[in-house]
Amino acid sequence: MTEQLKVLSLFSGIGAFEEALNKLNINYNLNNYCEFEPTASKAYSIIHNVSEDLNLGDITKVDETKLENFDLMTYGFPCQDISALGDMKGFTDEKGNLTRSGLFFEAMRIAKYKKPKYMVAENVRMLASKKFKNDLSAMLKLLDDIGYNSYWKVLNSKDYGIPHSRNRIYIISIRKDIDDGQFEFPAPIELTKKASDYYDSFASEDHYLRESDMKYLSEFRLKKKYSSLNSDVIVCQTTKQGNLANPQNFVKDEKGYRVMTSRELLSLQGFKKSYADKLLQNGITKEQIGKLSGNSITVDVLEHIFKNLLHTNYTIK
Ligand SMILES: C[S@@+](CC[C@H](N)C(=O)[O-])C[C@H]1O[C@@H](n2cnc3c(N)ncnc32)[C@H](O)[C@@H]1O
Repeated sequence: MTEQLKVLSLFSGIGAFEEALNKLNINYNLNNYCEFEPTASKAYSIIHNVSEDLNLGDITKVDETKLENFDLMTYGFPCQDISALGDMKGFTDEKGNLTRSGLFFEAMRIAKYKKPKYMVAENVRMLASKKFKNDLSAMLKLLDDIGYNSYWKVLNSKDYGIPHSRNRIYIISIRKDIDDGQFEFPAPIELTKKASDYYDSFASEDHYLRESDMKYLSEFRLKKKYSSLNSDVIVCQTTKQGNLANPQNFVKDEKGYRVMTSRELLSLQGFKKSYADKLLQNGITKEQIGKLSGNSITVDVLEHIFKNLLHTNYTIK
């Protein structure tokens, strides 16, 4: 009899952590998810086939004393205030108020009270840069103070089997009383797939660039790696993709130049293509799916991390 892993998912988005647990066939129970954006919550409930009643909504309103116990807390907290594409304020603004990235402290409020065995966070690589050295140190210190040993590393999705260049920091925290000091980040594996292996044979007309959109394919953007065109490894998906406002990854086929389809974008983050069909059928637009996928985490990286983190106590496929 193997233990069932009880999970609390914070800042859930479309649930990349949960998808990794599914793909590893780990016996888990989702106690709750927590996502305040209605489209993301709806998408989450469709992909994971759970009721939106499980959504705790705004994390700042969550009463930690009312939560059921859980073993694993996942928290891919907002990156807007750390990301190079955002305003880089960090956890507090000039008035000392917490920013959206400062919602990290809300996750810590819950962790301090509930003391799960494991916590896994993900954020943009910038958090590991010189500029945010103090913020990262403060985070690790707080995790230490509330009883956790933490391990962090920047990993690129393309080193874990998926042709998507996406550098992200992963922070694994293990409760000190159960930490045997053996956790290691997964070693890179050889990339055997190309982005073209993920292409769809059909894309509707509204994916194709008009004459005025061709500027996105300028030599400058391609050279600077702000965009990719039929490349073997796509450039990092962001929340701005999916429409023609600021697309990144392009495909040229016999009908012309186009942006990637929802199926292509989600599968290049490790989700099933069929989820895109389900979301579209339920009224979520391709622009919204582009944003959700750009905000999410590459499932394959999480699978490798969970294998190393959970193999001693939980049965893995
Ligand atoms: C970087 S994304 C996380 C994506 C997620 N890890 C996934 O697998 O798709 C951060 C998420 O936090 C959500 N969020 C922001 N503020 C929140 C709040 N106050 N309460 C709950 N969720 C919030 C955002 O809507 C967004 O979906």
